[in-house]
Amino acid sequence: MAPAVVVCGSGENPEFEGRITVYVIVCAIIAAFGGLMFGYDIGISGGVTSMDDFLEKFFPAVYRKKRHALPNNYCKYDNQSLQLFTSSLYLAALSASFIASKVCSEAGRKHTMQIASVFFFTGAILTSGGVNIEMLIFGRIFLGFGVGFANQAVPLFLSEMAPSRIRGALNISFQLFITIGILIANLINYFTSNIHPYGWRISLAIAGLPALMLCLGSILICETPTSLIERNKVEKGIKVLRKIRGVEDVDDEFDSILNACEMARKVKDPFRKLMKPVSRPPLVIAICLQVFQQFTGINAIMFYAPVLFQTVGFGNQAALLSSVITGLVNVFSTVVSVYLVDTVGRRFLLLEGCVQMFISQIIIGIILLKDLKPVGNDLSKGEAIIVVMMVCVFVMGFAWSWGPLGWLIPSETFPLETRSAGFAFAVSSNMLFTFVVAQAFLSMLCRMQARIFFFFAGWIVIMGVFTWFLLPETKGVPVDSMVDKVWKQHWFWSCFMADDDLRTDVKVV
Ligand code: BGC
Repeated sequence: MAPAVVVCGSGENPEFEGRITVYVIVCAIIAAFGGLMFGYDIGISGGVTSMDDFLEKFFPAVYRKKRHALPNNYCKYDNQSLQLFTSSLYLAALSASFIASKVCSEAGRKHTMQIASVFFFTGAILTSGGVNIEMLIFGRIFLGFGVGFANQAVPLFLSEMAPSRIRGALNISFQLFITIGILIANLINYFTSNIHPYGWRISLAIAGLPALMLCLGSILICETPTSLIERNKVEKGIKVLRKIRGVEDVDDEFDSILNACEMARKVKDPFRKLMKPVSRPPLVIAICLQVFQQFTGINAIMFYAPVLFQTVGFGNQAALLSSVITGLVNVFSTVVSVYLVDTVGRRFLLLEGCVQMFISQIIIGIILLKDLKPVGNDLSKGEAIIVVMMVCVFVMGFAWSWGPLGWLIPSETFPLETRSAGFAFAVSSNMLFTFVVAQAFLSMLCRMQARIFFFFAGWIVIMGVFTWFLLPETKGVPVDSMVDKVWKQHWFWSCFMADDDLRTDVKVV
């Protein structure tokens, strides 16, 4: 089982010597191609599944329904195998993340990222060269293994490489690269949708590029000192630490890593420890944040934005262009979060995000309920533009709150010895519920029609209440003091702290 991950929150060990070296930045950019792979895939699926050439070849029933039958506005794309094309990846990633957690600690972060890139590259070849639906799904499973391995290794790699004072921002840069990947995919779809009949193949093949960059780039990067020391390669670990910090004297940081690794080794079975009551607060919060993140409905928008925009009456091109706009909003709003997260705090961003997402979902729901009937009409141009604007407001609210914080908070609230195992739960919950939403959304849109937006709005109320009452503020709290300063002080979570076998005094690096 994976030994604990050694990361630190936001600059709580300022005494460590070191500069922000060019080498660290290069390593971080190369690793971030893992986020780009994930984001590219999120963005590409929706565009491809709305392209006629693709539908005609693999999903003729959906194509006929879209072209010839008198289509029900809300049901144009309702097809289980079309949804399986998108969602199969997440099922594969879900199972891969637990294996990846083991590989990550036994073979190291760098090799795990290399394995991820090979999986992803193979998946890109299989899907872009697809001749039948089986080959497509098989390719998606390979892509999923790539995502599962990359999502476990890249955030850990980034956290362990970064000097502690830029660790928080570097964490969110993983999410930033996801959003850049989504945007690039939207742009590529916009252009390839005009290339007949194989534009979709180009879209799917380009997924191989970030994988190739990650694979070749990772030859240049080194393993993290933590992972080396954890695997008893102590001499090499010190050498790498000196190189990435750009100074000779790294004794303090080295001692901390050593100390943390030794303490973590004492916990023989982190998954068992995770099941104890004392681990409940961070575990429940990590899982809930990921489940709620998906029940905002964000991926209904990310995967199916072009489909959704066609539903409200845009043509193919206008729909794809609108999803480029939402992609841009997503990237820029994530940058806002990098700046705000350590000043206004996590709770404020999450609650503000809830209000913004709730209002926009309700407005979209009301417009569609009032004016988009199942058969026969499209929205007026003005109404369709309001829907696109509200989608942008929604994406903005998500991108500076639940998007990055869904990943950041689980990485900072677990104590050292359960951090890796806990993070694997966070990754797999994300994948599971991404799968659920991806698989169900088009059928739900068909059955619930406009009311689906009220369904998501209902979840947003629940997550707002959860945040208000149960999510403590962790801004500025050192990760190794979470138990004393956060959980033991909390009106509700403190009752799980009675069984105080949760180690609180380990120095975390
Ligand atoms: C989520 C993805 C989502 C993306 C959108 C990520 O944090 O995990 O499911 O598609 O944000 O930017």
